[in-house]
Amino acid sequence: MCFKKKIKLYFSDSPGALKRRLRSYKQVFVVYDENLAPWLPKLNLEGKRAFSIVATEENKNIKTAYEVCKWLLEQGADRDAVVVAVGGGVTTDIAGFAAGIYKRGIRYANVPTSLVGQVDAGIGGKTGVNVSSFKNMIGLIKQPEFTWICPALLETLPEKDFLSGSAELLKTFILEDRTAYEEAVDLLSASNRKPDAYGKLIEEAARIKARVVGKDEKENGLRRVLNLGHTYGHAIEWYQHVHGEEAPLTHGEAVAVGIIKAAGLSEKRGYAAAGLEAKLRDDFHRCGLPVDCPCPEEALEEAVSKDKKAEGGKINFVFIEKIGKVRIAKL
Ligand code: GLY
Repeated sequence: MCFKKKIKLYFSDSPGALKRRLRSYKQVFVVYDENLAPWLPKLNLEGKRAFSIVATEENKNIKTAYEVCKWLLEQGADRDAVVVAVGGGVTTDIAGFAAGIYKRGIRYANVPTSLVGQVDAGIGGKTGVNVSSFKNMIGLIKQPEFTWICPALLETLPEKDFLSGSAELLKTFILEDRTAYEEAVDLLSASNRKPDAYGKLIEEAARIKARVVGKDEKENGLRRVLNLGHTYGHAIEWYQHVHGEEAPLTHGEAVAVGIIKAAGLSEKRGYAAAGLEAKLRDDFHRCGLPVDCPCPEEALEEAVSKDKKAEGGKINFVFIEKIGKVRIAKL
């Protein structure tokens, strides 16, 4: 039997409209990335209690989640309260996790302010914190009340973060929408980064993600497609972290290189027609994304073999058959 989970998304052109969306909640507690303090007033949340966190990977730990819970307790948050997470993926992961454990679980909503957050991390209910350098080792799958997506919030997003999100946007379209993929490549390569130009594509990508998660919330099958590019992407991130790389690729950039790698392997296996890797390389390059592996191939293969061993010899890998269609097979 297949149970579908309803994943609620709201889209808005106006940051100030969030207030209306929150009207029906009696107790609202905002947890936000401290970097967003200067423009938090745009969200029109005056009168709401708010707590800032340092939203870095280093700070994404159980201590920060505990601080959020302690603040909720001090503020008298009861079981009807809702936590509103305002920030990128790190913030929504920590705040969603804290909400998930506070008083054995209260509600939370996501207001992602990064492109990665709006098309991926803020949707689907994966919450959690890191354990030293091991990412998301403690966490819960807990769906937010809703994810509120306002592309106008991206106006001040730094270029590097925008690029990181672009890779997740392209990834999502490679899974199932060739037309949107080509449209996204055209926009990105034309450097037309106005949120109004992107609004439609962000909405389309967010809906694809919500649909996939709705069919397989716990990642027993279909949801795994969202990991396209992540096997090698994570290996790159791991390598750069271990070697103290001064200017490491962002998550999205590492995923972009991982997608190119997946395309090459798909051709080798005969799952994809020749030319797929070359086309993706050309498209990604035009979009300003990296396409070449920044570290020695042998080191990556070693990291991937470690993952394989940990999974009992083989891992589920997302191959690309063509743009708009992927398949999962053992690597
Ligand atoms: N970011 C992949 C997922 O939510 O499953």
